[in-house]
Amino acid sequence: MQDIWNDLQAKAEAVSARPIISLFDDNAQRFSQFSAAHDGLLVDFSKTNIDADTLSSLQALAVAARVAEQRDAMFSGEAINVTEGRSVLHTALRPDPDRPVMVEGEDVTVEVRNSLARMEDFANGLRDGSIAAADGEAFTDVVNIGIGGSDLGPAMASLALSPFIGPIKPHFVSNIDGAHIADTLADLDPSRTLVIIASKTFTTIETLTNADTAVAWLKEELGEAFGQHLAAVSSAEEKTSAYGIANDRVFGFEDWVGGRYSMWGPVGLSLMIAIGPDNFADFLSGAQSIDKNFLEAAPEANLPLLFALVGLWHNNFCGYETRAVLPYDQRLALLPAYLQQLDMESNGKHTTKDGKAVASMTGPIVWGEPGTNGQHAFYQLLHQGTRIVPAEFLIAAESHEPGLKHQHDILKANCLAQSEALMVGTQKENPQPSPERRFDGNRPSVTIAYQQLTPFVLGQLVALYEHRVFVEGAVWGINSFDHFGVELGKK
Ligand code: F6P
Repeated sequence: MQDIWNDLQAKAEAVSARPIISLFDDNAQRFSQFSAAHDGLLVDFSKTNIDADTLSSLQALAVAARVAEQRDAMFSGEAINVTEGRSVLHTALRPDPDRPVMVEGEDVTVEVRNSLARMEDFANGLRDGSIAAADGEAFTDVVNIGIGGSDLGPAMASLALSPFIGPIKPHFVSNIDGAHIADTLADLDPSRTLVIIASKTFTTIETLTNADTAVAWLKEELGEAFGQHLAAVSSAEEKTSAYGIANDRVFGFEDWVGGRYSMWGPVGLSLMIAIGPDNFADFLSGAQSIDKNFLEAAPEANLPLLFALVGLWHNNFCGYETRAVLPYDQRLALLPAYLQQLDMESNGKHTTKDGKAVASMTGPIVWGEPGTNGQHAFYQLLHQGTRIVPAEFLIAAESHEPGLKHQHDILKANCLAQSEALMVGTQKENPQPSPERRFDGNRPSVTIAYQQLTPFVLGQLVALYEHRVFVEGAVWGINSFDHFGVELGKK
């Protein structure tokens, strides 16, 4: 593996001054050769400095790191979270009927289906009013109280899928700052509101403090009937019942689901209530489509693998320390925050699985904002700063606002033009502009494109990022599934 690593380092050095645009000039097929699509999701990495030779070395690196074997171990329930002795089975939360997952002799997908069915009954009951508020009327709002993995997923997805929401509106409270819950509850009526306390451990100070505030708010209006307005999502049933939440209102999950990978199951309850079980099922199907691609596709058609290899190239061989996530999709405004936890909590590690210091850089710094807003702020640095920041653009062919098609056309044009401008700069201008107006170009980007931001597509996007994190962690030999750094912060 060291030989391949050294070879890639030499390659990166050799091509560092090569204009990316020259790769297009030399190869009319570059776009089709350096992009891949699966079930409508396109990952285009042609606007990077990767050539065929580099790509094959990166693929050899993945083989040498036994990425496929590590992937199979994860999907089949081996305890790959070695520091905590746990399986890592968020993929079993989007169960493929043809793929049982055996853990300690039992097919865990059976329990997953039962749990999904319970969530669906609850969500349907709330949505059709058969599970009513204390006064017998239907709920109109649901407040999810949780933080980190018990908040970011459903909060990000609820915003992303807002065209699918109704009749119950979701709200999210995470911060210990009382302003967060005060501002959220200020607009809500306790007699119409269901509160879900989401905490895997049911020990997190932010969540329990906000839960106490919400319970007091409910009690003031509803008296002892407040319990009808409460539910919990947790792996700690003894703690939820000690808190006074009826067991039939508690949605549990196993310790083989990490917080930041948990929105596919009970942590997604607020999302399921908001978008409905059918849309939630589409969301799971989207993730399943990428699971299948990751498991079965050849390296040249394997989206998560290719996406990860591009990430490794930029991080470990080109030396770029950050990656910018730039959704040209306002409803993906929370995606960068979601990915900060997914990527940085998973791969911000300095120790290999066997307890040694890592020999290379691990997880990069992830940041970003939706376009076009970012264009009027930090894109100055992207275009002319002294650091190179690989960009990840996300764009839909079609919006949910047919009456505003002209706006979506402008949005798309901006997205595509930015990736081109980052790559080309003013290199082809003659005469060359003065230095302060010159853009060197040669700044790489990946573009992820899809037809429309639907539940299925969102499931694909999140699974794509999850598996990219997995592949990168597997190549570095780290455990992407513990988070002792954050545990220290909690103390
Ligand atoms: O802050 C660390 C962390 O454990 C995250 O990984 C997790 O998502 C979050 O806290 C919330 O934890 P819990 O769901 O147990 O309240």
